[in-house]
Amino acid sequence: MTTTDIKAPETYVGRPVDRLDGPAKTTGEARYAAEHHYPDLAYAALVHATIARGRITAIDTAAARAVPGVIEVLTHENAPAMKPAPKVSMLNLSSLASGTSVNYLATDEVHWNGQPVAVVVAETSEAARHAAGLVRPAYQELPAVVDFAAEEPNATPQKGNMLAEPAVDKGDARAALAAAPVSVDLRFTTPQHNHNAIEPHATIAVWDGDRLTVHEGTQSFGWLRKHLAMRFGVTERNIRVVSSFVGGGFGGKGGVWAGTLLTVLAARVTGRSVRLALTRAAVNHTVGGRTPSTQRVALGADTDGSLTALIHTSVARTGRIGGPAEQITTVSRHLYAAPNIHLRQRLVQLDLLANTSMRAPGESIGSYALESAMDELAWELGLDPIELRMRNEPERNPVDGKPFSRRLLREAYAVGAERFGWRERDPRPGAMRDGRWLVGMGVATAYHPSWKMPAGVTVRLSADGGVEVRCAMHEIGVGAATVQAQIAADGLGVPLEAVRVRYDDSDLPLGAMAGGSMQTASVAESVLAACRKLKQSALALARRAPDSPLRGRRLDDLEARDGGLHHGTTGETYAAILARAGRGHLEAAIKPGALGMVGMLRDMRRWVKAACGAQFCEVRVDPDTGEVRVSRWLGVFDVGRVINAKTTASQLRGGIVMGIGLALTEETLVDPRTGRIMNAGLAEYHVPVHADIPRIDVHCLDEPDPTMPLGLVGVGEVGITGVGAAVANAVRHATGKRVLDLPITLDKLL
Ligand code: MOS
Repeated sequence: MTTTDIKAPETYVGRPVDRLDGPAKTTGEARYAAEHHYPDLAYAALVHATIARGRITAIDTAAARAVPGVIEVLTHENAPAMKPAPKVSMLNLSSLASGTSVNYLATDEVHWNGQPVAVVVAETSEAARHAAGLVRPAYQELPAVVDFAAEEPNATPQKGNMLAEPAVDKGDARAALAAAPVSVDLRFTTPQHNHNAIEPHATIAVWDGDRLTVHEGTQSFGWLRKHLAMRFGVTERNIRVVSSFVGGGFGGKGGVWAGTLLTVLAARVTGRSVRLALTRAAVNHTVGGRTPSTQRVALGADTDGSLTALIHTSVARTGRIGGPAEQITTVSRHLYAAPNIHLRQRLVQLDLLANTSMRAPGESIGSYALESAMDELAWELGLDPIELRMRNEPERNPVDGKPFSRRLLREAYAVGAERFGWRERDPRPGAMRDGRWLVGMGVATAYHPSWKMPAGVTVRLSADGGVEVRCAMHEIGVGAATVQAQIAADGLGVPLEAVRVRYDDSDLPLGAMAGGSMQTASVAESVLAACRKLKQSALALARRAPDSPLRGRRLDDLEARDGGLHHGTTGETYAAILARAGRGHLEAAIKPGALGMVGMLRDMRRWVKAACGAQFCEVRVDPDTGEVRVSRWLGVFDVGRVINAKTTASQLRGGIVMGIGLALTEETLVDPRTGRIMNAGLAEYHVPVHADIPRIDVHCLDEPDPTMPLGLVGVGEVGITGVGAAVANAVRHATGKRVLDLPITLDKLL
């Protein structure tokens, strides 16, 4: 076929395409890490330290070894040592994958209450868990610092950071605050949060000589493989990570934690394939959570609402054995055009498990404080909180004057106010009622930076018209492969059904990690580049044939559609081009070179880019019991070009749900005497359930970002930002009470 009818161009980008993995997930065919079978599979369970700090003086494993089916009990007395964790360095980004610096089972030292001190391997999971409960360590205890609230006054300034210096000074914020006719000065506290993804962490490790296969739900094939290679002294080529589905990551599956390392170690020692599926409690004891914080936000303004001073300082914690310094005050670099800005971050180190990333680390809790303070300032000024924000909307990035790649916060608030019925809000506290319920409406700004990283991608076009995209990606529940299939289908002009995305194996070209909301943009850039290369190769092949209608054409004059390249009414399908040339397939590979990294850093220096939005919340508060019910939600977001309206809305809704948990229920309770997590399970750590969540309306402005591939920016994290403040501000409106301490439990409203 050399000619085709002209059809209206049909594209997939932008459409609410159903997720390609939907049927596999709804029928139960989708297999998660723990669900792979090996004939020699053995099962592992962990023994956790019950002191915060000290040394193991003896460890009695006799009773555990006597349990029928127990194969091995590994402790520091008999386990071979892994290589130590690499020092965290920005020159080796994979060093960031070390959950902690502890070399498990190579030391008698205990660094936190919950640290694994032994691993039992048995023929069944039941035998392993039963035997683990019979291991008896004896300890010499040492003094431990575990109480964040008590230690907080001793915090020291945070040192440098890869992405942003923690300290910012513009003008003289303290003097401006003192001189301001209107001001607020508030101190907020937020608790530790722990990861409670639907799928608890699980690993299967299989050694074959010096070759290792690992099944794990990971957010980073690259980091996991590199880290295991370092710790077990084998080359990366000998390690294969398989990860088909991740049952929720949120940052908790970005690092390499004890469970993974000890499964690989146990498999090496026993010569068996080993599976370790962590209990919910074991996830809490071995996988870091979100740091608690204290924050001060002080705002000074003129009587017309123009900000004159913005002060935002924070104290967070790390573990003495690791954990990133969370960028809590970064939102205050970007949101308001204050002439005087002072930002500081301080840290304490505790004898607790290292903290880690958890959905929008920094912005989630930082936006709670900043956006609550802005709301309080609006009360002080007697000004509408949206109007106050609009009066302080900056033209350029407030702290350094850099240009925004685009910024549609004004539009987000305008659209949101209209759709939410903001005009019907009676601004007086307690003035709106629904029967006995007090009704409140609150707003807050959502903000999360956008990045992209270099990603490797191969695209293959076969003579039968099939397209295969190959890229090790992380399907953390968001439809990552679906949107890349849409992009490739449009890039080549083929039907979506012709595209297959292979993503679940580290032997594929490595994409980007699923973190920092950057996987989709990173991979999309390389998919687009590979599609262009393929079209060029197909055109070059066609032009060699004297009878090709594409002879003499340049790619930029052609349209990719209907399975081939076309110019007006003439053209050729890829299948015809390949068949004539006698080729079975064409392939294009994009390698993530070092230049890509330089380009990324240059891009970051040049633009301030972000996903942002306006969160609108309505609550009902019971005046007698203090019960808070979120009754309506609307989020209006600027996330650049929307690739898939359905998966985008789902991700944003998921973020809002998680934010409602942050606002109202989620709180890890650490025993201040022992450092033990007291609520290491879903019975006592409350995440929202369906009954807690109203209908959530999500609206995207769908304006492309001119600096991003297809104009898209990531949507993974922005949804949770601003949510805590929007709830707190709605509660303030309903009750007149400003809650400065998350979560907003009913006792704080009585
Ligand atoms: Mo994330 S908190 O960058 O997985």
